[in-house]
Amino acid sequence: MPKRDFLAITDFSKRELTDLLDLAARMKGGQITGRPLKDKVLAMIFAKSSTRTRVSFEVGAMQLGGHAIFLSSRDIQIGRGEPIKDTARVLSRYVHGIMIRTFGHDDVVQLARYATVPVINGLTDLLHPCQVLADLLTVREALGTWDGKVVAWVGDGNNMANAWLQAAEVLGFELRLACPEGYEPNHEIFERAKRKASVSITELPEEAARGAHVINTDVWASMGQEAEAEKRALAFKGYIVDQDLMKLAATDAIFLHCLPAHRGEEVEEAVFEGPQSRVFDQAENRLHAQKALLATLMG
Ligand code: CP
Ligand code: NVA
Repeated sequence: MPKRDFLAITDFSKRELTDLLDLAARMKGGQITGRPLKDKVLAMIFAKSSTRTRVSFEVGAMQLGGHAIFLSSRDIQIGRGEPIKDTARVLSRYVHGIMIRTFGHDDVVQLARYATVPVINGLTDLLHPCQVLADLLTVREALGTWDGKVVAWVGDGNNMANAWLQAAEVLGFELRLACPEGYEPNHEIFERAKRKASVSITELPEEAARGAHVINTDVWASMGQEAEAEKRALAFKGYIVDQDLMKLAATDAIFLHCLPAHRGEEVEEAVFEGPQSRVFDQAENRLHAQKALLATLMG
């Protein structure tokens, strides 16, 4: 069987995505006790910081009977210019899977092309698909289903927004984005999603939030955009998820944030800590969703 990678939500069909999340739910419920990664090793390359991704993959691999190796790109030869395609082939001789968090999405595509073991995208400037797996699991736990639900995205059209667009494309729910001019999601990803699902974009957070079942946001300046933080803070003024915005959403709406969060910027403290917030369930679900992913790709 050819190896499978997970670089984007669209790498999976609707059926495969649903099966994966079903498996994640069963793992979370303690119904799966096998060790599909027994004696298998996952290499994890990080060119950016991480708390959740690093720890959840490491713990997940261990719980499945395997092992994970943390590789900071500063410490391995990639940081001194060794080509990705060489790193891919070398690591493939030692390990059974590679997770990578980096800047350019093309680097991950190249790693996957040259690796003979599964490659998992642990976040690029373009996409954060592992987070969206956990978010989908969280939505289903809180609301029972994503079918017929309306998801609002408020803020930057970043890697998270792009990955949510791909989730809408595969699963077919309605996604409304509210982004300031100049900070829209990737054009190609948006257009592709629009052909398959009800996907819209506005500059008004209120328009996106009205009646929505999920209110979702993320930081205004992502990793690698630190130098733009001041300019972005001006552009995103008014794009805060506060209690007034939550009041426009459905009464049972949930608030999601992939974390880390900046209270008082993209989200008000009262919403972050409030009864509709599911942010720590989301964080926990990284573990369960990724265990299902590891078992599917490497088991
Ligand atoms: N949400 C997320 O990916 O968190 P980390 O950056 O801590 O991995
Ligand atoms: N958009 C954020 C997500 C962090 C998990 C970033 O890329 O920094």
